[in-house]
Amino acid sequence: MKISEVMNCSFSSWYSQFKDFTIKSQIIPLPQVFLDYLHADQLVLPESSVQLSAVDEDGDDNRNSENVINWATEEIIMPEAESPSFPEFELLLKTTITRMGGVVFPKLNWSCPKDASWISFDRTLKCTCPSDVYLLLKSSDFISHDLTQPFKYCDDDENLKDETQVKYELVLRKWVEMNPAYEFRCFIKDNKLLGISQRHNDMFYKFIPENRKEIEADVKAFFYHIVKDNFPDKNYCFDIYRRNQGKLLLLDFNPFGEVTDSLLYSWDELSGDSLPEDGPEASLLRCVESPVGVQSNPYAAYAVPKDLIDIAHGDDPTKLMQLLKLKVAQQQGEVSDSSDDEEFSVNT
Ligand SMILES: Nc1ncnc2c1ncn2[C@@H]1O[C@H](COP(=O)(O)OP(=O)(O)OP(=O)(O)O)[C@@H](O)[C@H]1O
Ligand SMILES: [Mg+2]
Repeated sequence: MKISEVMNCSFSSWYSQFKDFTIKSQIIPLPQVFLDYLHADQLVLPESSVQLSAVDEDGDDNRNSENVINWATEEIIMPEAESPSFPEFELLLKTTITRMGGVVFPKLNWSCPKDASWISFDRTLKCTCPSDVYLLLKSSDFISHDLTQPFKYCDDDENLKDETQVKYELVLRKWVEMNPAYEFRCFIKDNKLLGISQRHNDMFYKFIPENRKEIEADVKAFFYHIVKDNFPDKNYCFDIYRRNQGKLLLLDFNPFGEVTDSLLYSWDELSGDSLPEDGPEASLLRCVESPVGVQSNPYAAYAVPKDLIDIAHGDDPTKLMQLLKLKVAQQQGEVSDSSDDEEFSVNT
């Protein structure tokens, strides 16, 4: 896999070419100040997003005072972390979210923060305001990967793997409710459709094996008519959503290689000379054929946030305090009518 192949899958590289076949999206270049914020090892929202948190129950403004926290038996003095500020960028996010219908799905050049959905109220990546976006991006290892080692698996010269040359972007996509049974990943090698896998391979969807032929026909037609001659590489993967028979929506492009989840295939068989199913009557589509074939959820490891594991090991108590304060601030801001009853509970 080459750096150029990873770059061709960066959202802005393909969006304009495939605009008519994918979800409406807005690309927002990331200003340096926001990139610095994402890189920083602190979970602090911009002041504009947490104004409510600065006023305690007595109405006192605590913004400039030191917080004294009784942590178990010890008192920890935690100075207020400095809030970042990027008002122009924030305004752009707000107007874009409104323009997208009020609910968006966020991602950077390649990845969305799918490992961070635990942090939101409804455990989805739905964002309705800038602080939703900040919190998800700041909490995700996939986002860190995009920012720090997007070319990790490339076999180019190490000196060329320079992420500082990447023009980082935030992509806000109109939120679309999806049925996971209708999502598929397609593997393209030497400009041929090598295989199709159901996207959520930890589930059995009766619908898929029952509609195998129709699904294959639709994906083939979509690939040969729409994607094949318009994507610049010969090896790549793309994800599609088949809303209905004959109605397909392109979701994303991914590099052909280890950085991309091969789902019900393995990279060894995809990269090798032939697949076991090769042959005139062979099926292109792999799916879970019965309820006993389900695999473990690939993101189960993310169900317990790594930050909380750090805390459990006693490594970094300030991290948890920052997170708790953020959640409380968000809840105070967003659940105005039941703020007395709301609790943030942590299972350790
Ligand atoms: N606009 C959207 N609205 C709602 N859900 C979405 C939207 N776009 C994508 N999703 C869901 O999020 C999942 C991940 O999206 P996407 O492929 O863009 O992220 P990714 O980080 O590139 O994931 P992957 O690592 O699987 O390539 C999709 O499979 C789909 O279920
Ligand atoms: Mg992707």
